[in-house]
Amino acid sequence: MITQQFPSTRLRRLRHHPLVRQMVRQTELNAADFILPLFVRPGRGVRQPIAPMPGHAQLSVDVLPDVVGPAIDLGVTSFILFGIPPDKDNAGDVALSDEGIVQQALRQLRCTFGDRALLITDECFCEYTDHGHCGVLTNRHGRMMVDNDATLPRLAAQCVSHVRAGADVVAPSGMMDGMVSAIRRGLDDDGFDDIPILSYAAKYASAFYGPFRAAAESPPQFGDRGGYQMDPANSDEAIREVALDIAEGADMVMVKPALSYLDIVRRVKTELMMPTAAYNVSGEFAMVKAAAANGWIDERKITLEILLSIKRAGADIILTYHALEAARWLKAGAVDL
Ligand code: PBG
Repeated sequence: MITQQFPSTRLRRLRHHPLVRQMVRQTELNAADFILPLFVRPGRGVRQPIAPMPGHAQLSVDVLPDVVGPAIDLGVTSFILFGIPPDKDNAGDVALSDEGIVQQALRQLRCTFGDRALLITDECFCEYTDHGHCGVLTNRHGRMMVDNDATLPRLAAQCVSHVRAGADVVAPSGMMDGMVSAIRRGLDDDGFDDIPILSYAAKYASAFYGPFRAAAESPPQFGDRGGYQMDPANSDEAIREVALDIAEGADMVMVKPALSYLDIVRRVKTELMMPTAAYNVSGEFAMVKAAAANGWIDERKITLEILLSIKRAGADIILTYHALEAARWLKAGAVDL
């Protein structure tokens, strides 16, 4: 209950001195909060720019260290890897190969950086299937859909292969029911009971993923992902999704996208009290970049305000394409927005 009254209470007293503002500031951004997404593709010396995501490129394995090294120097030490394989098939078999593109990237980064980089892998099949859906397909009642239960052991196998290649954390993003328990069992059976699962627990069917699908070459070739990703109209369902993943053994949970879903981030943090991540997705990044390129907004201030809002909403961890620039700005001491 707030009982203060004007004029004995004047909230402006704590606002006019910059050092007082700094003293009572509740939320602070750190480079260590960020996870930088990286796209890895076959080839040598490849840096294929991603048009709607300025500053980001599909990178071949050999050039990955050129991005990761400077990131670590800025304090960004966590990375999530997405693979663009040389070829795709109906089931996404190439995702399970120990010689797969992400597996190669993991070995390279582990060998170059040892424990200085935290390597997280996105666990899903949409980048590896020729139809672009997140698992194997089945025909149910005349309709093609992702076969949830048939996809589970394949997800577990993908995780085991990634961990064998050097992944520190696995992050399943396919929104299959039971994915966390299948992965937990698969990892434990292979002796990887110490590897945490960061579950994309509340992932919405969002148009904000558009630029990513161009970057990862993974748009669905028919239909959409509304059959497995969440309806943007729902809030309680996000809590059920996250609670189920916790019961299945998730160590950290994620809400995705971030900005149109800050209410969900707050609910998840308050109601479930888990280490919580929010994914500041490709479309959110592209909008800022496009407006900044036109000179319509102050990119530095807007970016830091956005990231701060995600943290204030309850996220402990932010997956963001702004990670390097934000870390540079934070290092330069640009704290007072
Ligand atoms: C699925 C995956 C997607 C993103 C991360 N993991 C795309 C999708 O569900 O269609 C989107 C991330 C972004 O937009 O930045 N593997």
